Amino acid sequence: MHDAEILHLLACPGCGGALVGRPAGVSCGSCGRLVPQVAGVLCLLDEYDTHQATWRSQHARARSDFERTASALEAHARLPSLMESTRRRLSAQALLARELAAELDAIYPRELHGEGVAPEEGTATLASKRHLLHRDWGWSDSPENGAALAFVERSITAPLGSALVFGAGACRLAYDLHQRHATTTIALDNDPFLLAIAKRVISGESIEFIESWANTIDLESMRAPGCLRAPAAVRGGFDVVISDALEPSLRSGAFDSIVTPWFIDVGPSDLRVLIAVMHGLLRPGGQWINFGPLSYPPTRHPACRYMLGEILDFTNRVGFVVGPVHDAELVYSYAPLAHRGQLERCITFAARKNEE
Ligand SMILES: C[S@@+](CC[C@H](N)C(=O)[O-])C[C@H]1O[C@@H](n2cnc3c(N)ncnc32)[C@H](O)[C@@H]1O
Repeated sequence: MHDAEILHLLACPGCGGALVGRPAGVSCGSCGRLVPQVAGVLCLLDEYDTHQATWRSQHARARSDFERTASALEAHARLPSLMESTRRRLSAQALLARELAAELDAIYPRELHGEGVAPEEGTATLASKRHLLHRDWGWSDSPENGAALAFVERSITAPLGSALVFGAGACRLAYDLHQRHATTTIALDNDPFLLAIAKRVISGESIEFIESWANTIDLESMRAPGCLRAPAAVRGGFDVVISDALEPSLRSGAFDSIVTPWFIDVGPSDLRVLIAVMHGLLRPGGQWINFGPLSYPPTRHPACRYMLGEILDFTNRVGFVVGPVHDAELVYSYAPLAHRGQLERCITFAARKNEE
């Protein structure tokens, strides 16, 4: 079941009407449309069938990548005149690829399995998503989540009230902020795989999740049994939804705060569109809190690779008052097994929507 206080903040992806929870599911009180769900997560994207077909082909692609890798490694391991240690390494790597394929089938939402679907060409691999899940819920000794929370908290000067987190990913920061600062939190992302797993973890499940790194110095450091779990039971009033931050099916003016962690550079193709959307979703006096780098992908149009000054300029023009900007170098996704990660120059600031 979905909380009434959460449903009250959402809108029908078809007509924008209010949603109501019924025993048969969540539907629109105006047009009657039933809101689809992926593993219990509401999907507020219009044209669900098109998205579902894409997600199925992504699963089929990831599955066939693992299969192809495993078969190729097994074929190499059968070659004559290999050193015995090389044969052992190739076989171990093949076994790992097969384990990861089986694990994918076990944890990927059933309704998005792509059996019989042609793998989509050029789809990003699941590697970066696995990374987010490990960092948020698996690497219990990692200081990264605490450091991110502490940095964002430098910009929090008022309770978050009813909060919305855009591009929430595996949802750890959304969860931490909810536990400490918000009354209601919606963690929104357009990735059903991350959200479906995050929802299970946040609801108290422990999920076994292998950590792997094939490019390493010995067989022992190639694989580690991992487990995804939340530090404590989540307070009430938290939920995750699948939606597009640029066209979100949410009630206008309903939010006290919106947080964008590691998002404004990678999510929107033109950040100005997102800032205008956030302005519409916030109540007068509500706050937008940003956190992350300005590391635009290479595909971003040159005119939209905004630097901080341009972002603040536009934010002020739209009708916000921007507070102090803090700047720090933070570690991003340092993987203990791989001994790899990156450093990013991050900024955080809060912008308050004008009262009028
Ligand atoms: C760099 S990750 C950051 C994830 C998370 N905020 C964190 O701190 O780890 C960016 C996230 O934005 C999501 N995303 C990208 N474009 C989006 C969009 N238009 N609407 C909603 N989510 C989006 C991706 O699926 C991904 O989870």
